[in-house]
Amino acid sequence: MTLPKRYLVTAALPYANGLKHVGHLAGAYLPADIYARYLRAQKRDVAFVCGSDEHGTAIPIQAMKEHTTPQAIIDKYHEITRQNFEDLGISFDIYHRTSAPIHHETAREFFTVLNNAGELETKETEQYYDIKAGSFLADRYIKGTCPNCGFNGAYGDQCEKCGASLSPDELINPVSTLSGEPPVKKKTTHWYLPLNRHEEFLRNWIVGEHGNDWRANVVGQCKSWIDGGLQPRAVTRDLDWGIEVPVAGADGKVLYVWFDAPIGYISATRQWALDNNRDWHPYWNDKDTKLVHFIGKDNIVFHCIIFPVMLKLHGNILPDNVPANEFLNLEGDKMSTSRNWKLDMQDYINDFVKKENGGGGLVDALRYYLTQIAPETKDSEFTWKGFQDAANSELTDIFGNFVNRAMVLMHKLTGGKVPPLHTDALTEADRDMLAQLAKTAGTVEGLIENYKFREAQFEVIDLARIGNRYLQTKEPWKKVKETGDDGKPTAAAQQNIDNTLHICLQTCANLAILVNPFLPHTARKMLHMFKVVEKMLDWENAGKTKLLSVGYSLRAPELLFRKIEDEEISYQVEKLRNNSIRPGATGVPDASTPAGNIAADNDTANLKPQTANLKPTVQFDDFAKIDLRAGTIVHAEKVEKADKLLKLTIDMGVETRTIVSGIAQHFKPEDLTGQQVVVVANLAPRKMRGIESNGMILMASGENGRLHFIRPQEHIQPGAEIN
Ligand code: 2FM
Ligand code: ZN
Repeated sequence: MTLPKRYLVTAALPYANGLKHVGHLAGAYLPADIYARYLRAQKRDVAFVCGSDEHGTAIPIQAMKEHTTPQAIIDKYHEITRQNFEDLGISFDIYHRTSAPIHHETAREFFTVLNNAGELETKETEQYYDIKAGSFLADRYIKGTCPNCGFNGAYGDQCEKCGASLSPDELINPVSTLSGEPPVKKKTTHWYLPLNRHEEFLRNWIVGEHGNDWRANVVGQCKSWIDGGLQPRAVTRDLDWGIEVPVAGADGKVLYVWFDAPIGYISATRQWALDNNRDWHPYWNDKDTKLVHFIGKDNIVFHCIIFPVMLKLHGNILPDNVPANEFLNLEGDKMSTSRNWKLDMQDYINDFVKKENGGGGLVDALRYYLTQIAPETKDSEFTWKGFQDAANSELTDIFGNFVNRAMVLMHKLTGGKVPPLHTDALTEADRDMLAQLAKTAGTVEGLIENYKFREAQFEVIDLARIGNRYLQTKEPWKKVKETGDDGKPTAAAQQNIDNTLHICLQTCANLAILVNPFLPHTARKMLHMFKVVEKMLDWENAGKTKLLSVGYSLRAPELLFRKIEDEEISYQVEKLRNNSIRPGATGVPDASTPAGNIAADNDTANLKPQTANLKPTVQFDDFAKIDLRAGTIVHAEKVEKADKLLKLTIDMGVETRTIVSGIAQHFKPEDLTGQQVVVVANLAPRKMRGIESNGMILMASGENGRLHFIRPQEHIQPGAEIN
């Protein structure tokens, strides 16, 4: 196999209009990162580029919602998302932005080349216009009655209530959301990319050339687009936010966001090359470059049909593969920004990573679980219980346990040094284990090269599983008791112990190399324990059996992972349910969230409808059974070994109660004394961490899950009834 000269790895540019969640991470960024890290370990020439997608109506809509400017929105979310990726170990070579001048210049040049070559067409159409606002209206800016279900808050592209895809012309009684006035039709001219001219090329290239090596879901989706007949596609818009169309007289028109965004990969490469004194041209022009786009399935048409046509017309290389992932659901439902049914990267970082003092174990736990459930061929599901099981039963009990046992036993039985391998004393189990090392390395490599990250990671953990079994079979802790007259292990027993631990340690070194693309923090912690340099992680070392030198003393073992407690999981599940929002009432469509990205040709934002997700109705008599009382906190303390829990002592007038409350991450115990609260006083007692809790405190969840006490407006007698 001849290798490409260089690799260009891209991950879909996320819209800078809101927080991104773990569905996005699992869909595009994590697999791209695993691939890029693997390529770097292979010492291949690789550029891994990404950045914020800062155009399209998604941005001004979010600005309206946050009562600020589009510029403020992109500045805010660009930085948050960039930092989130960094915190989760996504190792972009550049995280660029499409508002950068170099991007505007690149996109304009691209458009001009295509336009001058006669590859674009212009067409005059009638579109909705708001006379009062003096502006054409993107579909999203028009509201009206849904022709399908009669809901009168439907948008020009979709009805939130029934989910129907609409065009603005279908809305009954349309009004502009800018002025509230009915819009009028006005003529406008736009530039179109005539995809119909390229059907044959696309069919040959996708179905003919890549029908077997691209994922079936990708080929299938493309084929059905092509079979359905491709239409010219507008590549400009009437909008005041975006890249101005570089044609005289095209005032007030900008490039369509989906025209400029993928060009963002090129401008990011240019900027990266500038920053690193490299030449960017071969990455986009030399056929010896392997270009791979990592995306979610909602982006397939843009990356497999539209952008390739643009690249071909502009004279660039085409992607070698577009490994698109399916959707990641969450706790039994689609991830959704508008319904707030999601786990934002930021929330995971706040709740887990920041509290861990930068060890990286919990970053790797998330990476591990997301790869284990990666929706590579079909939709998959994130559950908090699944996350806990993956972290506890696999990472900790299998991988962490094997490394820890090998290190502890080596310190106990071979003086803290890598013992020699006595080749003449090898058992069958030893030989099998050594053979397994080379075999796993080859298997993992093949799987990663074919974008099968889920299986590849499984093989790595399986090596640790096999290692545990091997150790169990060899039982060096028993061998050490086979002693001679001097009370020391016999020569044969010591040789057996040496061989076992030598092989286990070489297995650990292999595990560090193999796990590095998936769990980079773990790999580095292992290097630290082994007292070896980063270079050991070079992929050429994978499968080797002499990575740790005989006689070399290793550091004391550190735990690689910590277990995830039941309380942490129930807290997250409750938080998810408490903060979710009922679909449909108001707001912008559910950017119904595929694994990779917010909805496809959407230009939509992720406004939150403000209506709470109501529980089923209860009768007054049932409600009246709840006894609410005022109470005053007289003492608060942390519950041992429970991050989330505080033990509160509450003065209730005639009695003093103990209530255990899951608020430790929101309040300091010392700040709570004297605070008045509302207590559900007749709640059945419940034991938490061995403490009987008698009642519950009412709290409100605010933005980002922050908790606030519900309390009487003025201080009142403890025990007073609240009706
Ligand atoms: O769906 C999205 O989030 C888009 N911002 C993805 C763009 S990918 C590329 F074309 F830039
Ligand atoms: Zn409807």
